[in-house]
Amino acid sequence: MKFFVDTADTTEIRPLAASGLLDGVTTNPSLVAKTGKKFLDVLADICAIVPGPVSAEVAATDYDGMLAEARVLREVAKNVTIKVPLTPDGLRACRHLRDEGTMVNVTLCFSAAQAILAAKAGASFVSPFVGRLDDIGEHGMGLIADIVQIYRNYPAFETEVLVASVRSPMHVVQAGQIGAHVVTVPPAILRSLFNHPLTEKGLAAFLADWAKTGQKIA
Ligand code: G3P
Repeated sequence: MKFFVDTADTTEIRPLAASGLLDGVTTNPSLVAKTGKKFLDVLADICAIVPGPVSAEVAATDYDGMLAEARVLREVAKNVTIKVPLTPDGLRACRHLRDEGTMVNVTLCFSAAQAILAAKAGASFVSPFVGRLDDIGEHGMGLIADIVQIYRNYPAFETEVLVASVRSPMHVVQAGQIGAHVVTVPPAILRSLFNHPLTEKGLAAFLADWAKTGQKIA
């Protein structure tokens, strides 16, 4: 399972990248706006920190506009992945960009039918938003299970399921149980994956007992 971090904040990304656990980054217009910085500068900084796929979303909603913006964004760095919304123009742009060898993340996916279209458009990744489905009483991880099952029926589909809108460590665990390819996780949730009280308690006990030996290893 690949771990992407879902933020445009380089102060959050840098230490997580240093952990060795980060395989990529996803951003969106809301996350970029939160930084208060110029998009292309933020994107260049992120791409310099994380060598894996870095999703940068177009703002245009029309086919020609998406292609024009994608051509600007992909010039920033070779690991830029163009993010397009799951709309007719978005999937048409996806197909064109993929034919040009550009990675594409199709975002704002909320149904299995949409995910099938994204795969047929050749998307590198599809981003179903599990948290936003849960927020309205639907079963976000149920959608992930449906998409993974459908994609497994068609080996020609090359699209990776990128679980997005993650709200808890349990979303990460369930994504793993289902077999999703990627989870993109907010920084705080990513850091919380390390935490367990018995780990802390056990380490404290080991250190206390070691201290009693009066020995040093190095
Ligand atoms: O990458 C998509 C993600 O940022 C959306 O998450 O919490 O706004 O639903 P959220």
